[in-house]
Amino acid sequence: MRVTLFGTGYVGLVTGACLAEVGNQVCCVDIDAAKVARLSRGEIPIHEPGLEDLVRANHAAGRLSFTTDAQAGVAHGEILMIAVGTPPDEDGSADLSHVLAVARTIGRHLAGPALVVNKSTVPVGTVALVRETIASELAARGAAIDFDVVSNPEFLKEGDAVKDCMRPDRIVIGADSVDAVERLKRLYAPFNRNRERIVTMDPRSAELTKYAANAMLATKISFMNEMANIAERVGADIEMVRRGIGSDPRIGHHFIYPGAGYGGSCFPKDVQALGHTAREHGYEPRILDAVEAVNRRQKDKLFELIARHFGGRLAGRTIAVWGLAFKPNTDDMREAPSRALLQRLWEAGAQVRAYDPEAMGEARRIFGTRADLTLCDSAQAAVDGADALAVVTEWKAFWSPDFAVLRERLREPVIFDGRNIYDPGQVEAAGLAYYGIGRGRSLRSA
Ligand SMILES: NC(=O)c1ccc[n+]([C@@H]2O[C@H](COP(=O)([O-])OP(=O)(O)OC[C@H]3O[C@@H](n4cnc5c(N)ncnc54)[C@H](O)[C@@H]3O)[C@@H](O)[C@H]2O)c1
Repeated sequence: MRVTLFGTGYVGLVTGACLAEVGNQVCCVDIDAAKVARLSRGEIPIHEPGLEDLVRANHAAGRLSFTTDAQAGVAHGEILMIAVGTPPDEDGSADLSHVLAVARTIGRHLAGPALVVNKSTVPVGTVALVRETIASELAARGAAIDFDVVSNPEFLKEGDAVKDCMRPDRIVIGADSVDAVERLKRLYAPFNRNRERIVTMDPRSAELTKYAANAMLATKISFMNEMANIAERVGADIEMVRRGIGSDPRIGHHFIYPGAGYGGSCFPKDVQALGHTAREHGYEPRILDAVEAVNRRQKDKLFELIARHFGGRLAGRTIAVWGLAFKPNTDDMREAPSRALLQRLWEAGAQVRAYDPEAMGEARRIFGTRADLTLCDSAQAAVDGADALAVVTEWKAFWSPDFAVLRERLREPVIFDGRNIYDPGQVEAAGLAYYGIGRGRSLRSA
């Protein structure tokens, strides 16, 4: 099929590359000319495992192209996919300006029948809004062209995006017409082989499904962080509690890890946007509000442990930070807990020596050059001359450090484990103080 993707971010680029890989002719349109130029040269602007090979191979095979020419993009696709950003507006609602800009572009240039597929995360009712926007552009130029708009929310995870796209858990299609569903079923057939993954519904339910999924995941995280904070106070170890409850199949082991708070480009904005939608419809979303409030507080947790250990005197101290990306296997630092920690450390007068396996370029772009930040070339270099180590992102490379070496290199041998990846007994046996999230032992180290 001939498919056009609007937006070449995490969702658009990955979807475009995967659709090209299974034989479709894919054109990716973006308004960011520098990004399009880089992609056309085979440079991938984001870190996503497996993506670079996929983009290069399909670009070379002539199945995947990049352009800023929206008119050419509209002309190319029988299926037009919207995968642009929906960042939070000042009031927390989703900013639909990019989605509606694409809808206007489609309406302005559409020359033949097309199926418009929205993959961006959007409030309930956006399919209808996109339909009206396209229709009014068509009416303005007196064109009568058949088109349909469907919701097809994206569930890929950064860091696993290619795998998720190739083997999705489910493919949600929110459509009013059988024909639209059939066309998308044909498009997604290569990803839907060993069992039925397609769930069809009306567009409004599909739009809400995406928010409900992210809100549920964020709720699990905030719930576990709340339990961790209780565990800390009562002298229990949340890691034991986690195993104890995860073995109940009704609860499960997935996504019940306490930590330094959730970040990324999706959970924070989607929980907020869903809350906003609820309020707009006269409903007070108490759980969503609590999920957000617990997360905001949790992002201060590591800083508070550090400040408590040093008796509130952090001026002149140097803290090594391992991990800047909001989670492993990505260079994305949007809303990352590391940013909250660095901010608090700087406000308290501390110096930071930071290392991340993939996000150093992103950190340089966000923070620029500042006297209180040293971006280091390796995890080892980050701890050299530092008083303490804080682990913020659980990259595999951080899981098994030589604790004896850390004890020697750190001026004040202490580890703040924001992801509970270490065994407190092992760290303490090596002569370092240990603080985790919600671990009874962290009270002993204090
Ligand atoms: N990142 C994720 O893990 C993820 C997962 C599922 C769903 N989503 C949702 O998918 C959407 C896209 O997210 P993302 O992370 O890929 O965004 P992103 O910010 O990485 O990329 C968005 C891209 O759209 C481009 N763009 C903006 N306006 C445009 C226009 N008028 N025409 C063409 N291109 C335009 C931007 O230049 C940018 O390259 C959001 O609604 C997001 O919530 C994201």
